[in-house]
Amino acid sequence: AKLHVHEFIIEAKPVRRLCITHQTITVNGQFPGPTLEVRNGDSLAITVVNKARYAISIHWHGIRQLRNPWADGPEYITQCPIQPGQRYTYKIKIEDEEGTLWWHAHSGWLRATVYGAFIIHPRLSFPYPFSMPKRDILILLGEWWDGNPTDVLRLAQLTGAAPKVSDAHTINGQPGDLYRCSGPETVRFSIFPGETVQLRLINAAINQKLFFAVANHQLTVVEVDSAYTKPFTTNVVMIAPGQTTNVLITANQRPAQYYIAARAYDSGNAPFNNTTATAILEYANANAPSRRGQIKPVFPVLPEFNDTATAIAFAKRMRYWKRAPVPLHIDEDLFFTVGLGLINCPNPRSQRCQGPNGTRFAASMNNVSFVIPQSYSVMQAYYQEISGIITADFPQVAAEFDYTRNVNRGLWQPVKATKAYKLKYNANVQIVLQGTSIVTPESHPMHLHGYQFYVVGSGLGNFNPKRDPARFNLFDPPERNTIGNPPGGWVAIRFVADNPGAWFMHCHIESHLGWGLAMVFLVENGDGPLESVKPPPLDLPRCQMRSFGSSL
Ligand code: C2O
Repeated sequence: AKLHVHEFIIEAKPVRRLCITHQTITVNGQFPGPTLEVRNGDSLAITVVNKARYAISIHWHGIRQLRNPWADGPEYITQCPIQPGQRYTYKIKIEDEEGTLWWHAHSGWLRATVYGAFIIHPRLSFPYPFSMPKRDILILLGEWWDGNPTDVLRLAQLTGAAPKVSDAHTINGQPGDLYRCSGPETVRFSIFPGETVQLRLINAAINQKLFFAVANHQLTVVEVDSAYTKPFTTNVVMIAPGQTTNVLITANQRPAQYYIAARAYDSGNAPFNNTTATAILEYANANAPSRRGQIKPVFPVLPEFNDTATAIAFAKRMRYWKRAPVPLHIDEDLFFTVGLGLINCPNPRSQRCQGPNGTRFAASMNNVSFVIPQSYSVMQAYYQEISGIITADFPQVAAEFDYTRNVNRGLWQPVKATKAYKLKYNANVQIVLQGTSIVTPESHPMHLHGYQFYVVGSGLGNFNPKRDPARFNLFDPPERNTIGNPPGGWVAIRFVADNPGAWFMHCHIESHLGWGLAMVFLVENGDGPLESVKPPPLDLPRCQMRSFGSSL
């Protein structure tokens, strides 16, 4: 096992896209940021040096951080952010994890440009479960705004309206040749006729679920969220923010150029970015890059934007690659609603109430709209037993209720609070995530920090606690860290609470997280030091009151 030492310098650099240059927060001047590449069992020490004017923290998405929440990263959950001019070293140990993960800023919308891949290869001499190609192609999907993403968030927070949709989707930071001023920079990947390569797809978009396809080529899914799957072949992948998907592709078509394309999957009825990001897969020795008058690359068939049937059918095909060690008896049987909401305003004409009919947008779990603390982190408060930061009284709501209608909002108006649910060490946990159809039925990609979980069931409509559990897949359900409920439906997950600490669970659609679609699990220590949270590192960023303009 190796120790990898890195320095991540956070700084603003001019980046030009769609004919406009603006100051963009980058890591080491790169957008997207550097790729971390390690082996299972390795350790990393990554010193984040903040030379930007925003406070920031970095999250290593999908890394479990066993007993070490101090290196997890979400600001005000496991640490206070790194202030401008300060630094913090994340010490990470990879323990029994391999595959494609990623890292991103976990401070407001800074992750729009502060993100990169985190690839974990198997231990040396531990083979993959299937024969794997030698060559990988990394595909980071993102969203780009004409302007500063933090300002987009700030305006939405001020007005209570939905944030402006992005101006482009991107592949490895480039929109591709369907957008203005983007043609020459379109990303090109070359492939040899007959060759099979692995594409590592990461959806780093702020808000948008995406359909992904490569013209004329089938994709064989072999891994999701750093867990192998039974291989299956598909023409299109649906990937939600936070998720990763590895697919194999074989160059078995006529030598030519083929478009790789990503565009929105959006089940809701709110505005979304309906443009298409492209890159080009070109066969080596095929005709030279197309110039005017030459044949255009072949374009893939993509589903309609609201093609929920395709999205659900894709998710349903996923199976863990072997028999999975799913917890069978359940100690904590939890039911959480996930959905949007609207907060009534005393003065609906106010500048702060520009949401539908003079309201402010909100989102909640079990009707609690999570408020991120602003002076102290949840983990520090938990560790030092400081009261007043978070309460462990996250409520339960009735499982038997009709969540599929647009429930009257007088009846269902979220309460703003900072609430956690406490779990005993090693408890077997089941959570049913029930989408509400308040405002709009939508799929919420829910991410749990500190854990991987098994997705044992899902369905449309209301979860039925008497009928549905009998149909759960307890044999080979997919293992993930981010999963969406079908729009207007539910999804059930299981895990063992064997990682003590404060762990954030939230919708990975950043606008929904900002509206409060989140909660925290406080997982208690077990017996003895090897079942307990490690002491905090000495350089953990100091907490201080958030001053105006320093963070968001
Ligand atoms: Cu990928 Cu809490 O985030």
